[in-house]
This record gives sequence, C-alpha cells and structure tokens, in this order.
Amino acid sequence: MSEWTQLWLDYRKVCDGIEKVNVIVRDFSKENRVIKSLLDEITRGMKGLTGAEISVAIKDEFEGKSEDGTLNVAIQKNDEILAEGYRIFRKGSEVLLEAADEKGALYGTYHILRMTARGELIDGLEKKCDPDNPLRMMNHWDNMDGSIERGYSGRSFFYKNNEVIVDDRTRDYARFMASIGINGVVINNVNVKEAASYMITDRYFDKLKEMSDVFADYGIKMYLSLNFASPIELGGMKVCDPLDPEVIKWWEDKCKEVFTALPDLGGFLVKADSEGRPGPFTYGRTQADGANMLADVVKPYDKLIIWRCFVYNCTQDWRDTKTDRARAGYDYFKDLDGKYHENVILQIKNGPMDFQIREPVSPLLGGLTKTNQMLEVQIAQEYTGQQIDLCYLIPLFKEVLDFKTYCQKDKDTVADIISGRAFGNKNCGMAAVINTGNDKNWTGNDLAAANLYGFGRLAYDMSLSAEEIAREWVAQTFALEKADEDIIVKMLIESRDIYEKYTCPLGIGWMVTPNTHYGPSVDGYEYSRWGTYHRADHLGLGVDRSDKGTGYAMQYYPENASKYNEMEKCPEELLLFFHHVPYSYKLKDGRTLIQYIYDSHFEGESRAEEMAESWEKLKGKISDESFKRVKNRFERQLYNAKEWRDQVNTYFYRKSGIADEKGRKIYE
Ligand code: GCU
Repeated sequence: MSEWTQLWLDYRKVCDGIEKVNVIVRDFSKENRVIKSLLDEITRGMKGLTGAEISVAIKDEFEGKSEDGTLNVAIQKNDEILAEGYRIFRKGSEVLLEAADEKGALYGTYHILRMTARGELIDGLEKKCDPDNPLRMMNHWDNMDGSIERGYSGRSFFYKNNEVIVDDRTRDYARFMASIGINGVVINNVNVKEAASYMITDRYFDKLKEMSDVFADYGIKMYLSLNFASPIELGGMKVCDPLDPEVIKWWEDKCKEVFTALPDLGGFLVKADSEGRPGPFTYGRTQADGANMLADVVKPYDKLIIWRCFVYNCTQDWRDTKTDRARAGYDYFKDLDGKYHENVILQIKNGPMDFQIREPVSPLLGGLTKTNQMLEVQIAQEYTGQQIDLCYLIPLFKEVLDFKTYCQKDKDTVADIISGRAFGNKNCGMAAVINTGNDKNWTGNDLAAANLYGFGRLAYDMSLSAEEIAREWVAQTFALEKADEDIIVKMLIESRDIYEKYTCPLGIGWMVTPNTHYGPSVDGYEYSRWGTYHRADHLGLGVDRSDKGTGYAMQYYPENASKYNEMEKCPEELLLFFHHVPYSYKLKDGRTLIQYIYDSHFEGESRAEEMAESWEKLKGKISDESFKRVKNRFERQLYNAKEWRDQVNTYFYRKSGIADEKGRKIYE
C-alpha cells in the first residue's frame, strides 16, 4: 500500500477494447526531460486505464497496418500553436497530438488520458486548447520546520526539521500539478522567517536544485518567497532600505549566487510591510521602490518579482470607524500604477479583506491599468471550512473572474485583466494558496481535492464551468456510474451556498474563532486590532462603506461604485459588507434582515444534513477508506454547522430582541 493516494491520476481500468498502444514522437527530442515525463505518464496511464497486456512502444514510425484494438498516438510539433497549447485529433485508431513546445505536449498527453478515463477519446474528436493565463501558480505556505501556515492536511511534504525533502512524493506532486496545467510553484510560506531566510544561501542550494530539477521534468518553474530584510538577517547590514546603494549591491551579489546555483528558479514572491513583515515603508519608501529594486536586480537573469498587495494596518483601534482595512490595498497601490517595472507582478487577493466566503472583488483588480496583475485565491480553506466542511470554491472563483470592472469599454473583466487580454501584457495570471499536506489523501478531506484540481484546470481554461470541472474531477477520482457521479457533483456545486448560509450573513465575513479561524465566535474579532468588525448593535449590523461611511465603495469605477454605494441598489449578498442595515430592513423578497438571518441559518444547517445523508448513498461504491474519511468530515461539519446556526441566531436574537416569525428553537 502506498503511503499516499494518486488523486485523479489513479488510472483504474475503465476502458475495454484497447490491447496495444503505440506512441511515436516526431520532431521533439525523446531525450528532452519533459518529453521523458510525458512518455512515462502515457505508459503508466494507458496501462492502467485500458488494463490488459498493453505495450506502449516508443517508435519513430508506426509499423504496418494497425490491427483492431490498437491505438496509435503520434506526438508532433506544430509551431503555429501558442506556447503551452495543444491540439488533439482522433481518426479511427490514430490519435494525433500537436503542440508548439514540450509543455504543450505534456498537457495534451494528460488531456488524452483524461478523455480516455471518461470514455471521450472518440473517433472524429478535435480538441483545441490554449492556456488562458501565462502564469498558473501554486503558493505553498509551508514552513521549514514542517508546519504549514493555514494547512489542514497534515504536515509539509517539502520540509521536515529544517531540511528540504525530495522524494517520490515530490515527483507525484509535480505530476499532479502538470496534469492540471500548473507551471509555477512557490515552495515556501510568504512569511519568511528563521531557517526559511536561509533558502537563498548555500545551506540549501543542493537540495533546492534537486527539487527544481524534479519540477523542471514536468515543465514547472520553482519560485521562492523572500525575506525583504535579508540584507540585515543574512548580510549583517543595519538596514534593508531599497534605495541604499549598499543594500542594492548586497542583493546583486546575492542574486548572482542564487541564480548560479538555481538557474531554473523563476524568481521571488514577496510579502512586505504586511502583518509584521519588514518592507520599504520602514524607510519611508513606496511599495514600488521595494519591488523595482528587486526587479532590477533579478532582471539580468530574466526572472520575476511577484509582489503581494496584502498591505494594511493590522494595529487598528476598533473604536476608530473611519479607518477601513478594505480600503488599504487600493490606497497603497493605486497611485503607483504605471511605476512598476516590466518584470514586477502585483499579486492581488480576490477580495479586499482576506479570503472570506463572500467579499466584493478587490477594486485594485482593474483599478490598476498600467501594471502587471496576478489574481491570488486560496484553496486552503482557512475561512471556508478548513477542509472539514465541504466547500467547493470554483463557483466563487468563477464569479471573481467574470466580474466586470468597467476599467475600459470591453475586455474589462477580471479574467481579461489577469490573463493579459485587457492590456496586452504577458507577466500575469493566477495563483492559489494551496491546500495540500502529507496526509495520505493530500487534502485532508478527499472532496477538497476538487478545489486543487479545479484551480489548475480553471487557471488554464477560464471558460470551463464549475460544473464541468467538478464532473471531470469526480469521474477521474471515483469512476462511478453517472447517477452516482451526479450525487457528488450536486454536493460540490451546492456546498458553497450551504456553507455561506450557516456562517456569516450577507458579506459581513469573519465572526470566526480568533487565530484558528474555524468555528463561530461572533464577537471574536469585534474588539481586536485586525480591522475586521461587524458593528452589530441593538438596531442593526454591517459596516457603512458608502461615501457617508468609510468611502470604500467609491474605489470602484462609477458603474460599480453607484451600485454598492446605495443600500437599495447594493447586491443583497454583499449588503452587510457595504452598509449598516437595520434588522427591520426589508429585503427584495419582503423578508426582514433579521428574519433572513434566522432563515438562512436554519436552512444552511439542514441542507448540510441532507448533504451528509447523500454521501451515505455512495457506501460500497467508492473505496471504504475514502468513504469513511469523508463521512467523518461530514460528522464534524454537522457539529460545526449547528454551532454556527445556534450561536449566530442566539446572538442576533439577544441583540435585537426580535423573535423568529416561524417560532423555531433559538436559544436565549
Ligand atoms: C491571512 C492568514 C495569514 C497569512 C496572510 C497572508 O491573514 O491568516 O496566516 O499569512 O493571510 O496572506 O499573508
């Protein structure tokens, strides 16, 4: 028994009638590392999926006439296809895969396997795929001691006791990532401290080179998170002022050393001036000063600086109702638009706060029009159930991508901006804070792997729907009859709505247990320094972010600003994010706000129960081990959902003194 599962690359036998698969590679070198991985994978995949005694022959030309039960797969170069794209055609027993480069050929191979697993590799097939986003990245928040910041699936498989691990699991990880089109991986936590600061020293170069080689076999570039204070911590300098010539010289020498040892490294991800991390503000410099200095230093090596925009005042006084954390990203970065160098990318969280179950889209996305932008989402479910509660996040990501920013006449959605379609740039894309760990099933909850799979597929092809992605994932992971597949797809698609209903209402966010961020604590952050308040009193709740309040709503282009600014026009799911609303306020369907809070919490909890019951129908149809693991997660989810329902309902009943019209049990 393996120590870890194969997720969606399980390659169980699902396909009859193919006894022999011949693969030929034209134009590409069979010695190329990515082509070697491709050949390994197609051998492994086809053997598993078709069963029987099949032989995968790697030849230059197909021999003779193909007999029944033979599949001939030719992989060849076509320079007209875009980088990392591919074409697949099938005619009779011949499958043709064309790509402009090795990565495209590898992605196409995974697509062939995916279609084989789903019985879709049929005669007459024509498939054209080009990546929507140039950069499709995973961000690990793994620490070198083996812990993972916001990790819910065990410990790190990259580090243990301050050592880097490179083993078979690293290779399997790289395979999974390549199979969904990921081409960049940041391997360490954005909060770079202690041993991690030494990753850019010869203490770790050998191991890191080994790791980056494994990734390179699968067309993946490795990136490191950087400690902005390295000149102080490693160099013994007094300052890390980005405009200080000695600091710049230190970075120049450092980068020479790093890129000589790790030539394939893609560049650095930087969290500066955020939550206690050092940065340019300490020296009265701007974020652009910091990012550009590093960008210039890495430019001779053709590398990137990915600079995070998660900068806000985390020592706020709750008494202060004018300072608004939601405003911070825009306030700090908007005026610097156009000042960032070409190899800087600003990485922007999807919402202005922090990966809540519902937030508006960050106004920085599209607010910036002359700066490379990358969207950051979190598939680690920090605030969305921690891989205990089911919460399929692809519908949320789709909403973000489809959001019209009005930054220009057309091509103005978030998808247009981060893919480079809007402004014609190439340093852009999508990044996800990953949800993996060394648990046997990689993601804690087996069903949370749908988010891992889904993020990659979506980043490659933003036109895929959340349901299509769910179907692909379920089919490859569980190989079920259609009716059973439907059960899991339905659960996934509904899960976000259910989670939202039993947790914090109408975009207000938070109300979570401080620090751990799991489970309810309505006032947990209400008097804290983190700028995350719901402002509930006996008359109503919500944060006034209109022009009469913090003014945050005005950071959007007028079409959106006017909508968010007025309580009556504001989309209801975001009502409490933008407005302080009386409990007696009538929503569009005639219900009062307080009644909505009660109704949604009862509904959310009871639908969570139904979801747990539908899982029971799959008993005996999927592996017992997997069935039990998920069942156990549902038991914990139900406990959590009840706590949320009762604590939120009781809290607002006590505050408002208004009873539930339907007379259901609300604790006093
Ligand atoms: C959240 C999270 C932190 C993390 C931070 C970030 O605040 O709770 O653990 O470091 O986001 O994105 O940098």
